[in-house]
Amino acid sequence: MGKKTVLVSGGAGYIGSHTAVELINAGLNVVVADNLSNSDMSGVEGVRKITGVDVPFINVDCCDKEAFRKVFEEYEFDSVIHFAAFKAVGESVADPMKYYRNNLLSFMNIIDLMREFGRHNIVFSSSATVYGEADELPVTEQTPRKPATSSYGNTKQMCEDILRDSVAAYGGEGLKGIALRYFNPIGAHPSALIGELPRGVPQNLVPFITQTAAGVRECLSVFGDDYNTPDGSCLRDYIDVVDLAKAHVVAIQRMIDDKCKEGYEIFNVGTGRAVSVLELVNTFERVNELKLNYKVAPRRPGDVVMIWADTAHANEELGWKAERSLDDTLRSAWAWEKHVRGIE
Ligand code: NAD
Ligand code: WQD
Repeated sequence: MGKKTVLVSGGAGYIGSHTAVELINAGLNVVVADNLSNSDMSGVEGVRKITGVDVPFINVDCCDKEAFRKVFEEYEFDSVIHFAAFKAVGESVADPMKYYRNNLLSFMNIIDLMREFGRHNIVFSSSATVYGEADELPVTEQTPRKPATSSYGNTKQMCEDILRDSVAAYGGEGLKGIALRYFNPIGAHPSALIGELPRGVPQNLVPFITQTAAGVRECLSVFGDDYNTPDGSCLRDYIDVVDLAKAHVVAIQRMIDDKCKEGYEIFNVGTGRAVSVLELVNTFERVNELKLNYKVAPRRPGDVVMIWADTAHANEELGWKAERSLDDTLRSAWAWEKHVRGIE
C-alpha cells in the first residue's frame, strides 16, 4: 500500500488535479495536500467524480512544517509529486519574498520530512522558464540555464539545485528525484470536469483566449507580430495538460521500479513542436467554429521570442510522448470554459 501511494502537494490545482486522475487511472493511490491558496475544492471534487475514488484531501500549508508533518504521520506513501507553489511571474517580480518564502520553504520542508520519515521518491514541477532565451533550439536538458529574469523563475532554478544536491548527499538513504521541466501546459480534461481556474485577469494565453470567446474579456491582445519568427508572433511549445499529467505517472513509476539511471534526473515535457501565438489563435477559431476578437498589441516586456523542447530524452528514456493533438487540446480548453461559465 505505502509503495503505491503518492502524496500530491498542490493537487487541488490545475496540473495537480489532472495528475491525480492519471495516477488513479494507473492504479496508484493518491493523497492530496493543498492549502487552497490558488484553488478551491472543485478540483478535488472533479477528480473524485471522474475516478469514482474518494481521494483523501488535507488542507495544509506545506510551509507549516509541524502541520505538514501530520500528513507524513497519518499516510503511508513512498512517493511525492510537489506542485505546491505560486506561479505568477509578474507578481513574483513585484513581491519576491512571497515567492521565495512559499516556493522554497514548502520544497525544503518536503525534503526534510521525506528524510525524517524515510520516504524516497520525489517529482518536482520545474519549468522551461529555467532556459530563458536559449542560444540553441530546440532546448535539450543539457542546454545551459540562463540567469532567471523573475523571482518565480529563480525559485524553479533554486529548487532544482536543492533537489540535485539533496539527492547527491542523501541518495544513500534512498532519496531519488526527477525534475520535469514543463513547457506551456494548456487544455483540460476531456470530461470538462477539471481545468485551469485563473484568478483575476489571466496572464496566460489560452485562458485569455477562452475568456474572450466566452465574452468575459473584450479582446485578446497578441503581444507582438514583429518578432523574427515566421509570422512575427512568439513561438512556444504548448503541452496538453493530460499528456503532462501522464508524464508524472511514468516518472513516479520509474522511481518505484528503481529504473532511474541516476539519482537525480531532468526531463523536458513538451511536444517538440513550435506553435506561434497567431497559429494558436487561428487553430482555436477553426476547431471551435467561432471568431475571436483579437488585435495586435505591443510586445510584452520579458517575453522570450521562441522556445520549444527537444523531447528525445523523455521519449527514449522515460518512454513518454505527447499524444493529444493541438486541435483536441483547444477543443477541451473551450469545453472547460463553457462548463465554468455555464454556456450551452
Ligand atoms: P496552480 O496554482 O493551479 O496549482 C498549485 C497548487 O498549489 C494550488 O492549488 C495552490 O493552492 C497550492 N499551493 C500553493 N502554495 C501552497 C502551499 N504553501 N501549501 C499547500 N498548497 C499550496 O498551478 P499549476 O499551474 O497547477 O502549477 C503547478 C506547478 O507547476 C507549480 O509548481 C508551477 O510553478 C509549475 N508549473 C506550472 C506551469 C504552468 O504554466 N501552469 C508551467 C511550468 C511549471
Ligand atoms: C504565451 C505566448 C505571449 C497572453 C509563462 C511563464 C512560464 C510558464 C508558463 C510557469 C507569449 C503571448 C500571452 C496574452 C499574448 N509558467 N500572449 N497575449 O509567457 O510562455 O510562459 O507560463 O512556469 O514560466 O512565463 O506563457 O501563456 O503567458 O504566453 O499574445 O494575452 O502568448 O506573449 O508569446 P509564457 P503565456
